Amino acid sequence: MSSANAGNAHVSVLIDEAQLHSRINTLATEIHTAMPHGPLVVALLRGSFVFAADLLRAMHRAGGKPQVDFMTISSYGAGMQSSGAPIVHRDLTEDVQGRSVLLIDDILESGRTLTYARNELLARGARDIRIAVLLEKPGKRAVEIDADFVGFTIPDKFVVGYGLDWGNYYRELPFIGVVEGDNE
Ligand code: IMP
Ligand code: MG
Repeated sequence: MSSANAGNAHVSVLIDEAQLHSRINTLATEIHTAMPHGPLVVALLRGSFVFAADLLRAMHRAGGKPQVDFMTISSYGAGMQSSGAPIVHRDLTEDVQGRSVLLIDDILESGRTLTYARNELLARGARDIRIAVLLEKPGKRAVEIDADFVGFTIPDKFVVGYGLDWGNYYRELPFIGVVEGDNE
């Protein structure tokens, strides 16, 4: 299926709203225990914006006082294949020098995006960087990197929804779904 079909495909539910909500509350408690002193949350746009919004509110319920900033890095074009080298499209506003940073992304696949982001923050003097991802696809890593907090480990299928897109469609879906017909 080409990306011209994006937006009109059938999407089946892989992880529903209740599962997302419950897992994110647990993750927030784990994060608050590991990083009790209000980390600077750096959310990678665009894919992590829904996860970031829910995780931040769950961190509040867990007793945390995080600060937030955003960075746009992409290694995908309009399609389903990563193009390789990440590019920064929009940069942070905050200075990360000496900060404890929680770097969050929607999904860890090849690991290139998060490796690039982590190295960038280290080069800017971040003191401590932990990584939280909503989803992880095992066996797809091109570079060696692990997330400290993982919501769900999923099969090697292209997923959309809850911030994740296909050709910038489907980010609004309140669940994580699989595009039918594309993953066989
Ligand atoms: P990585 O750099 O290969 O680890 O890819 C991470 C980025 O690729 C994520 O932030 C997503 O934007 C995108 N990505 C990877 N897998 C999927 C998928 O199944 N659906 C939608 N986007 C994906
Ligand atoms: Mg992304």
